[in-house]
Amino acid sequence: MEKRTQIHLGSLVGCVFICVLVFSGVCSLDNGLARTPPMGWMAWERFRCNVNCTEDPENCLSEKLIKKMADRMVSLGLLDVGYEYVSIDDCWPTKERDSNGRLVPDPTRFPSGMKALGDYLHSKGLKFGIYEDFGTKTCGGFPGSEFYMSTDANTFAEWGVDMLKFDGCYSNINDMEIGYPTMEFFLNKTGRPILFSCSWPAYTQGIKTDYKLIRENCNMWRNYADIQDSWDSTYGIINHYGINKDGFSAFAGPGGWNDPDELIVGNFGLSYEQERAHMGMWAMMASPLFMSVDLRSIRNQSLALLKNKRLIAINQDPLGTQGRRVWKESDVELWVKPLQTEGSLAIALLNSGNQGTPKRLSLPALSLMLTNPLGYNLTEAFDGASMGSVFPNDTLKFSLNPTGILMMTAVPKVSSANLLMSLIFGQ
Ligand code: GLA
Repeated sequence: MEKRTQIHLGSLVGCVFICVLVFSGVCSLDNGLARTPPMGWMAWERFRCNVNCTEDPENCLSEKLIKKMADRMVSLGLLDVGYEYVSIDDCWPTKERDSNGRLVPDPTRFPSGMKALGDYLHSKGLKFGIYEDFGTKTCGGFPGSEFYMSTDANTFAEWGVDMLKFDGCYSNINDMEIGYPTMEFFLNKTGRPILFSCSWPAYTQGIKTDYKLIRENCNMWRNYADIQDSWDSTYGIINHYGINKDGFSAFAGPGGWNDPDELIVGNFGLSYEQERAHMGMWAMMASPLFMSVDLRSIRNQSLALLKNKRLIAINQDPLGTQGRRVWKESDVELWVKPLQTEGSLAIALLNSGNQGTPKRLSLPALSLMLTNPLGYNLTEAFDGASMGSVFPNDTLKFSLNPTGILMMTAVPKVSSANLLMSLIFGQ
C-alpha cells in the first residue's frame, strides 16, 4: 500500500489544527447544499447487501439495478417533485483496495465503473450518492476510509459523486469529533460540492453528542437506529424524535438536518394508514426524504403518497424548522411545525396505538397553538380540502384511526386593514 495517501488518526489533531489555520476557507462545511431537506432514493433498506447476481440478477446491488431505479425515478415523475439523489449504500466495492490504495467498484456488479454510472445519473438530471465508512471497514465488512480519507475524497470527486453517506462501523467513537470533520475537510478540498451525510451521532447517542459541531460539518446526520420494515420500527424513530433528548431538533435548519433514516413507503411492512403516518411525520420532522423501495413494482397508492406535493411542501418549507411534539397523552400525540409564511403552522395528530377503532378527540384550538385572535384558515394536508375557519376559542373534534395521522396547515387570517398595509408597504 502506498503510504503517501494514508492519514493516521494519530495525526488528525495536527491535520485539523493546520486546517483551521491555513485552509480555513475549506475547513468548515460551506458547500451551499441542502438548503431544504435532501430528497432521493437510497438502496439500503430495500435491497441491503445482496451481492449475489448469479442467483438474483434482478435484485442484487449492481449498476443494472441502480440505472433501473434512476430510470423509474424519472419516468414516475419522482424527479419532477424533488427526489434527485440516487444513493448506493454499502457493499459496492471489492474487498481489497487496488495497489494505489484506491477503492475499486466490484467489477462483476459495476462493470462500467462508477464514473460511467455517475455520468448516466447526471444525464438523467439526477445526482450520484455513494457510501463509505469512517472506520477500518464498512458495516458490511468492505474496506473503510480510515487511513484513506484523502484518497477516497479525491476518488469520489473524480467519479462525479454528489453525496457521501459516511457510516461509523469499525471505528473508535472517541475519534469521530476529529475524524468526520477531517473527511469534510478533504471533501471540501476537492472543490466539488459533495453533500455530507454523517452517521456520527447514531454511534454516540446516549454518550456526549456535540450537535453544534455535527451541524458545522455535516449536511445531514443519522442519530438513531436503522429503520426496518415495520410500524414498531417507524414509530420507535418518531418517538425518539418526540422525546428530543438534549434538544437535537433545534440544530436542524437550512444546510443541516437530523436524519431519521429512509422512507419505507411502498414496501411490505406498513399498512396504507401507517404509510400515511410515516410520510406525514417525515414531512413534519423536516427529514431528508430518501425512498428505499423497489420502483419497478411500487403500488400506485404508495407512489401517490411519496409524490404528494402538499406534504413535500411542508417538508421543504424554506424556514427549515423541525416540527416538535408538543403534547402526548397515552397513544395520542400532537406535533407542530412553524412554516415560513408568518404565523402559519403545520399540525399533526398521531395515534400510535393499534386498538381497532378510531379514537375520538375534542381539543381546544388553543392547544393546537392556534392563538391568532383573527383566526386561521385550516386545510387538510393530504388532499388540500378546506376545513374552514377556526378561532382560538373554538373546540375542534377529530377522529383518529389506529396507527393513523391527521394533518393540516393553519394560515392566519389577515384583516383587510393589514392586507391593505402589506400591499402598499410590502410589510
Ligand atoms: C448501517 C447503517 C445503515 C446501512 C448499513 C450498511 O447499519 O446505519 O443505514 O448503511 O450500515 O451496512
